[in-house]
Amino acid sequence: MRSAAAALPLELNIRDNARVTSSERPVARSVSYAPIAARYERVRGGFARAAELSTGVLPWLPAGVILDVGAGTGIVSQRLRAGQPSIGDGSGEPAGDSSGSWTDGSDARTDAPTVRRVVGVDLSIEMLGQARSRLPGCLAVADATHLPLAAGSVDAVVYVWVLHHIGDIDAALREAKRVLRPRGRVVAVSGLSEPAGDDMAPIFERLSATLRPNMGRRAGAVVPAARLVGFTPIHEGTVRTSRGMSPNELANAIEQRLFSQLWDTSEEAWAAVVAPAVKALRALPRPDRRRRRVFDHPLVVLDRGP
Ligand SMILES: C[S@@+](CC[C@H](N)C(=O)[O-])C[C@H]1O[C@@H](n2cnc3c(N)ncnc32)[C@H](O)[C@@H]1O
Repeated sequence: MRSAAAALPLELNIRDNARVTSSERPVARSVSYAPIAARYERVRGGFARAAELSTGVLPWLPAGVILDVGAGTGIVSQRLRAGQPSIGDGSGEPAGDSSGSWTDGSDARTDAPTVRRVVGVDLSIEMLGQARSRLPGCLAVADATHLPLAAGSVDAVVYVWVLHHIGDIDAALREAKRVLRPRGRVVAVSGLSEPAGDDMAPIFERLSATLRPNMGRRAGAVVPAARLVGFTPIHEGTVRTSRGMSPNELANAIEQRLFSQLWDTSEEAWAAVVAPAVKALRALPRPDRRRRRVFDHPLVVLDRGP
């Protein structure tokens, strides 16, 4: 995998599971998706999920250069590059000259032409290996807190299902602010959401909260952290995805460790927390019947300011 990735054109900064440093807080660790890179798309909803998420993100994106941080396999990035609509200044020019009027969430328009270049970075060389055909020449292995890009060089920074995996969210947002041009935007979609009223959700939520209690707190930390860094939140909403899944399928996925909170679980924690969750899922009524699981993922749009 490393030799293939060595050909990535912008490979400047190879780090797997990079340590993220900050002078104000203890070193935290980001979560590289290398362990499930080969299976990621199949087990996370593939093109249908990418289409749903990009549909939620696109109305908030300007034309110009979009940096997809934690781009993974590039399945969402490629849709962001191709997709309409775009927020622009309506002049037919890319929004990169900052003369546009998109200063708050109310001016989302669908009539602007899209001229968009998407650049992807990720900690995991294995994930990016799959993105090569989707974003040729526009990939780098890099930590969200040390981006290999010049100051003021991008029009928007996107995080899809990423921020809660980053060890130091403040440092990542500071870095996003550095690479954004004046009035550039951050568009962040959280990967943390369990469907309301779904009989599997309480079991999975309990499992996650026990194994990785910080994860939920990290998702809630985005807006306060963004304000501290100097961003102005201009929109908070949700993006919906949906999937069919049965309790037995979810139990199988847990047993196969397809979720990041299970990658470093000790034998003791497995016996005390994971095995009972699997048992509870399999004990639900009609465990082979697929439920339609509807997820409303928090979406935040931030303005960098002048
Ligand atoms: C759940 S995946 C999402 C991938 C992609 N955005 C998507 O929606 O398909 C999270 C990704 O974030 C990457 N990641 C985690 N921490 C990171 C960091 N500090 N810098 C860059 N990428 C990171 C992981 O390697 C992984 O590929």
